[in-house]
Amino acid sequence: MKKTIIRGTGRYLPERVVKNQEMSQWMDTSDEWIEQRTGIQERRWIDEDSKVGASDLGLIASRIALERAGWQPEDLDLIIFATLSPDINFPGSGCLLQSKLGLKSTPALDIRQQCTGFLYGLQIADAYIKSGHANRILFVGGEVHSTGLERANRGRDVTVIFGDGAGAICLEGVETDEDVGLIATSLHAQGDYAESLMLEAPASRLSPRLTHEMIDDGRVWPKMDGRNIFKLAITRLPEITQTVLSKAGLTINDIDMVFPHQANLRINQSYQKAMGIADDKIFNNIQKYGNTTAGSIPIALDEAIEKNLLPEKSTVLFVGLGAGLTWGAMIYRFL
Ligand SMILES: CC(C)(COP(=O)(O)OP(=O)(O)OC[C@H]1O[C@@H](n2cnc3c(N)ncnc32)[C@H](O)[C@@H]1OP(=O)(O)O)[C@@H](O)C(=O)NCCC(=O)NCCS
Repeated sequence: MKKTIIRGTGRYLPERVVKNQEMSQWMDTSDEWIEQRTGIQERRWIDEDSKVGASDLGLIASRIALERAGWQPEDLDLIIFATLSPDINFPGSGCLLQSKLGLKSTPALDIRQQCTGFLYGLQIADAYIKSGHANRILFVGGEVHSTGLERANRGRDVTVIFGDGAGAICLEGVETDEDVGLIATSLHAQGDYAESLMLEAPASRLSPRLTHEMIDDGRVWPKMDGRNIFKLAITRLPEITQTVLSKAGLTINDIDMVFPHQANLRINQSYQKAMGIADDKIFNNIQKYGNTTAGSIPIALDEAIEKNLLPEKSTVLFVGLGAGLTWGAMIYRFL
């Protein structure tokens, strides 16, 4: 039977480091507040005037992943691009990336799953591979948040959290009887909580979609009910982890490394405690990058591979929750 196998990973974080201290030039905040509440010390933001979009960050990450897989862009059957911050409203960043890779007809699709973009994207890739519609797939999760954050007191809860960055993964269908690849998945969504974390305008339900009044009212910036998201995360992440572990017939002790979405270090510490995960079996890098949304898990995975933390046959668990509300978990075993 065909299994979905990771052949190469890559990441790109912009070079500009924005430390917590820098945030206090735009709003009432402090290094202590940000680090205590979120664990974040710094994040990467693109240069203000660089005109760089999510597909540009994705392109650099993709080239690295393709090289590690030993593939040319022409080898790809499909590109899946997960982002909540597309370069332009439409067409999607996947199409822009396809062109930047020099491709002329390879299918490309965007998904809008926010912080679970990687989890949804991986399951979509798996379904394409197992149904025979594609065998070599490039998944990219990437965001340029910094151009869409309100640098003022009104937006300070959101602005301090998010960072720019992209991760890319080459996935291939491989015929094998071994118990490898994506071995259990569970995804959910609950639109009842859409307003707990959203960016409203410009919106097709409004006519006109954008007015000066909407800009003045701040409806063009993301809004978050941080406490609610926090509460939802600390209950649902352990629950869904148990669900995928049961589906795979495993326990948490069988997992070599857990990759939680990087939204808040306190959420991940609470999750770690609830699940009884040892410190060296959970990977966090939010301290350096903030929340890179669809980029977060693939960036972390690439870092862990580079640090040789995942030997052959390692079993890893990915888990996350974010805007939608969407949440999910999956277990992957390396070849
Ligand atoms: C955003 C978050 C860090 C806020 O932490 P919190 O402990 O819940 O803080 P609160 O929202 O209750 O705000 C406490 C106070 O800090 C203030 N505050 C908010 N942002 C601030 C900032 N950047 N700097 C300083 N003070 C800030 C609030 O205005 C509030 O002030 P008040 O008590 O005078 O009204 C936290 O709720 C969180 O991380 N939630 C999850 C968010 C998440 O995961 N989002 C992404 C999902 S993918």
